[in-house]
Amino acid sequence: MSSITSRAVIDPDDAPDLQQGALQSEVHPLNAATVRKLWPTEGHLFRDHLLRLDKDSRRLRFAHGVSDSFIEDYAARMSDMGSIVFGYFVDGEVRAAAELRKLSDDWGVEAEAAFSVEHAYQDQGIGSALMGRVIRSARNRGVRLLFMSCLAENAKMQTIAKKHEAELRFEYGEVIGEIIPSGPDYFSLLAEATDDRVGYMMAVLDLSSRLVKAA
Ligand SMILES: CC(C)(COP(=O)(O)OP(=O)(O)OC[C@H]1O[C@@H](n2cnc3c(N)ncnc32)[C@H](O)[C@@H]1OP(=O)(O)O)[C@@H](O)C(=O)NCCC(=O)NCCS
Repeated sequence: MSSITSRAVIDPDDAPDLQQGALQSEVHPLNAATVRKLWPTEGHLFRDHLLRLDKDSRRLRFAHGVSDSFIEDYAARMSDMGSIVFGYFVDGEVRAAAELRKLSDDWGVEAEAAFSVEHAYQDQGIGSALMGRVIRSARNRGVRLLFMSCLAENAKMQTIAKKHEAELRFEYGEVIGEIIPSGPDYFSLLAEATDDRVGYMMAVLDLSSRLVKAA
């Protein structure tokens, strides 16, 4: 086991990728991309995104090859598990997702995060920026230790974790990243609440524009 970086308390709102990354603004007028939390009724959008991952991304996401039926079952349990799932929406489809999972019945001191970005959308800063959102949500729920695990070969995910000051340790072919979110404050709570409100508005606008197109 080796520690690659030292662990530090971080504030995702100060993270550089949130200042200049792909998600600097919630809405990108040119390609109509939006980041928001998925609603419990939107498991099918999460499922379709995971099913669209190419073979290698799917293996990296789940740490081994998984079948379509595994993904269908996994996505169907999204709301049962009480997870928070952020979606990167383009034209009504989720093209990238970040999950924040409880490790017990309630939000306790520990939680786990996982990320997936479809191949055509990778390397544009989306995964890094989603990591900032997940850390902020963990922080606002009092999580004191956020885990992220990936295969040892997953250099990209480890780069993102290191940018967010994760301590990385190697265990049996996997890398476990540990991040200590700083405690919630007025600004972190307000920022998440504002994002949620914008996300809600964008979802309603998207639904109405699709209803108009379908009419
Ligand atoms: C891993 C993943 C989430 C990253 O998302 P992304 O949007 O492609 O990543 P970003 O563009 O935000 O950042 C990638 C970073 O890795 C760096 N990077 C790219 N290739 C790299 C490599 N071979 N080695 C090291 N770093 C690399 C990039 O330079 C970038 O860092 P920078 O912002 O400092 O330049 C995405 O590629 C993915 O979904 N992969 C498949 C599923 C997966 O691996 N999930 C993680 C396990 S939970």
